[in-house]
Amino acid sequence: MGKIIIAIDGYSSTGKSTIAKQLAKALNYIYVDTGAMYRAVTLFAMRHGFIGGEKDDLEKLVQSLPQVDLKFVYNKSLGFSEMYLNGENVENEIRALPVSRQVSKIATLEQVRIKLVQMQQKMGEDKGIVMDGRDIGTVVFPEAEFKIFMTASPETRAFRRYKELLDRGEKVSYEEVLKNVQTRDYVDSHREFSPLRKAPDAIEFDNSDMGLKEQLERIHNFALRKI
Ligand code: C5P
Repeated sequence: MGKIIIAIDGYSSTGKSTIAKQLAKALNYIYVDTGAMYRAVTLFAMRHGFIGGEKDDLEKLVQSLPQVDLKFVYNKSLGFSEMYLNGENVENEIRALPVSRQVSKIATLEQVRIKLVQMQQKMGEDKGIVMDGRDIGTVVFPEAEFKIFMTASPETRAFRRYKELLDRGEKVSYEEVLKNVQTRDYVDSHREFSPLRKAPDAIEFDNSDMGLKEQLERIHNFALRKI
């Protein structure tokens, strides 16, 4: 079987990563969650007080970027990769609401995007990769052979995310999760550098009323036609 690049973009909490992960498994491809990379940079900025305190110092964050070492390390027992920030497994911390509240601001920074996009392009050099994010089909791999743009109503997405956070033991309300989803959508699609957009050649996929099994089946079939 040939190897292609599969780009999955879309709004927050559309289930991109769940689909991308399973699709990668089915095709025996590498899976890369680029949101985890923006989240890890955000955690770094929070820990250093560059963001989330009284006053943001994004200039300092940009200067400190060479000290941010990001790695995906495959966890055999889980069957997927986890994000390491400067040698530490930060997988849980980066998914929590405090990071979700700050991440879109960090993702507006051009220097952050340049650094992460370069890393992502390197990871896809040999193809055979499923990458999800916001700018994969437009900026990271405009030449990707197969592009999907995932959407669902904000309420559906917020409810899914809310359940996920509750399952992980976080104390959150549905209203604050909905607000976070809506704010991130707005910031992600209105920023100056690489705003969230559907690539002209991407297939739009609304999964508001679709179960996981059906989504995977459909997307897998689309992908097989491109390989
Ligand atoms: O995919 P996830 O929701 O984990 O991404 C977190 C945030 O990271 C997004 O809301 C967006 O601000 C940013 N992001 C981005 N470009 C990507 C992936 C994520 O700007 N390729």
